[in-house]
Amino acid sequence: MSAFIEQLPKVELHLHIEGSLEPELVFALARRNGITLNYADESALRAAYDFHDLQSFLDIYYAGMSVLQTEQDFFDMTYAYLQRAHGEHVRHTEIFFDPQAHTDRGVPFSVVITGIHRALEQARHEWGMSSRLIMSFLRHLPEESAIETLRQAEPFHPFLTGVGLDSAEKGNPPEKFRRVYALAREQGYRLVAHAGEEGPPQYIRDALALLQVERIDHGVAAIEDPALMDELAEARIPLTVCPLSNLKLKVVNSMADHPMARLLQAGLCVTVNSDDPAYFGGYMNANYLALQRGLGMSDAELLQLALNGVEACWLSPEEKALLMRDIRAHGEQYGIYPVR
Ligand code: ADE
Ligand code: ZN
Repeated sequence: MSAFIEQLPKVELHLHIEGSLEPELVFALARRNGITLNYADESALRAAYDFHDLQSFLDIYYAGMSVLQTEQDFFDMTYAYLQRAHGEHVRHTEIFFDPQAHTDRGVPFSVVITGIHRALEQARHEWGMSSRLIMSFLRHLPEESAIETLRQAEPFHPFLTGVGLDSAEKGNPPEKFRRVYALAREQGYRLVAHAGEEGPPQYIRDALALLQVERIDHGVAAIEDPALMDELAEARIPLTVCPLSNLKLKVVNSMADHPMARLLQAGLCVTVNSDDPAYFGGYMNANYLALQRGLGMSDAELLQLALNGVEACWLSPEEKALLMRDIRAHGEQYGIYPVR
């Protein structure tokens, strides 16, 4: 790992907190909660992380998070991620959680969000690490369930900045969630959605036009649609791209085929993120490293990706300026200047 990547100040904008649950913590929480898992031990669970598409991952992802029961469990999971991210010089993070995956198991919304929120506050106090929380709706469930979840979130609105849309993309187009996005917008939430991960470029267009999202999660399918790429570049619509996730879920056949470099060179505001790092073989540094080693991106391009992360995030303009200054200063130490 190069010191340039390791010490680079970073922003992470696409991280499912339940996807940060490492096998060791899955087993520790299972023991604490008296739950028996279908895997003998941590290495047996890890051995099952051999995915052929998004759904094959989601099946294990939902099974893994079933050990989460108490407020302390949600705190411990979130704090473990934040500690790891802090160690990798992540200065700001915008985190997804999947409330329906817990409330459908009988865990109250309040238990989930207070545990996560308490860890975010602790990271802010301990390390000055800033964060935002994004409630994500599961797109394989009916829109009514998302609307009910939005209602459950009302008392916790101050803990939440945005809403998102995740889970099985194919066959669950953005238009299915028009009403809940309109309601969330009325309530003052910022809007993002997963689109163009396994789904077609049209889902990216629809997320922008029908749901009015300001940022697209993944969005790599844009590479198939030059006119869409031009629109995304022109409007500086950020894409929160997750290189190792795309490799593990076979969205790309090899890192050398990944569209990140082409999207950046076409002027899009692409950013680097880890998605579900416990499942996909690495956190932020590993994703930057994969772009360098596997795709041959230069340090100047990596520096630009880090700056794009700041541009795309929900910090104030003053906070963004400070963070961008630190990123540029980091580059200057190595004689590296951003490409844009
Ligand atoms: N939930 C967690 N990770 C996801 C991903 N990569 N795509 C869709 N839903 C998800
Ligand atoms: Zn995701």
